[in-house]
Amino acid sequence: MAAFEQLPEMNSEEFYRWQQLLEQRTGVWLSENRKSFLVTNLAQRMRERGFDRYQDYFDSLDSGVGSALEWANLIDLLTVHETRFFRDQASMDLVRNHVEKLISKATAVESGEPVNAQVWSVGCSTGEEVYSLAMVLSEVNTSALDKQGRNFYFGLTGVDISFPALAQAREGIYHQRKLLSVPAIMLEEYFDSLADGYYQVKNQLRHRTCFVQANVQELESAPKQLYDVIYCQNVLIYFQNARREEIVKQFVNRLAPGGLLILGPGELNNLSHPLIEKVSTKHCQAYLRAGG
Ligand SMILES: C[S@@+](CC[C@H](N)C(=O)[O-])C[C@H]1O[C@@H](n2cnc3c(N)ncnc32)[C@H](O)[C@@H]1O
Repeated sequence: MAAFEQLPEMNSEEFYRWQQLLEQRTGVWLSENRKSFLVTNLAQRMRERGFDRYQDYFDSLDSGVGSALEWANLIDLLTVHETRFFRDQASMDLVRNHVEKLISKATAVESGEPVNAQVWSVGCSTGEEVYSLAMVLSEVNTSALDKQGRNFYFGLTGVDISFPALAQAREGIYHQRKLLSVPAIMLEEYFDSLADGYYQVKNQLRHRTCFVQANVQELESAPKQLYDVIYCQNVLIYFQNARREEIVKQFVNRLAPGGLLILGPGELNNLSHPLIEKVSTKHCQAYLRAGG
């Protein structure tokens, strides 16, 4: 198969097929005005694989040895991974306040038991969101617990559909350009400096994290753990409304009693669910599950 230098124009029937495939498998909805994004990224991969017809490449994703692997590579090109440390400070502050309240509630009863907070970052991309949350949780005020001789434990699970993004997240290595939004004092405390302007998240923080490949559309089959905080920003904005609602229902099912759900500002409008209540805050979109 000889690849043409320039791929042919993608007609509307072909676009429709790719749009459907991507939505079925990932939930991501490519509107007509993102056609050039699709074509540019497909073209890159098709050239690498030696395809010159969209339909042949499309068919190859459905059959044969290696089609699942090829799909995993393609997903990485067709999803947006943009992220940064402390991307939404107001939401991070809300998480810190919530966990401090958990601690303060626990200390009202002298039990000797540790306090444990579990956080789920859904659509975590290359890890910046997870490590930002890990730094926030490392800095919560635990003095009341300390006085009672009790420990505070926390863990963070990052989930994403993209294997390459997760591999980067697990390594926790970032160039200093990506670390401009990390306060200097935190850079010092939580990162080791490597060569050529790179830094790596210290083990003390990395050991609190775990990165798992999963499709947000298939959360029903994910392990049934409950989380104290579920954090999902800049993921559902790429999905159609009906799908967003279904996914958010799954989030609510995974919230521990009293747990906090944080969505990005444009993630879902007018969420109403009998088990959760909107948190009154101007700066972000958050909900609390009853109980706790
Ligand atoms: C724009 S990034 C957002 C990263 C981070 N949450 C933030 O706000 O900075 C969106 C991430 O969602 C992931 N994603 C897209 N569709 C997904 C799906 N169906 N299941 C899990 N992750 C998905 C992408 O791979 C990408 O890493």
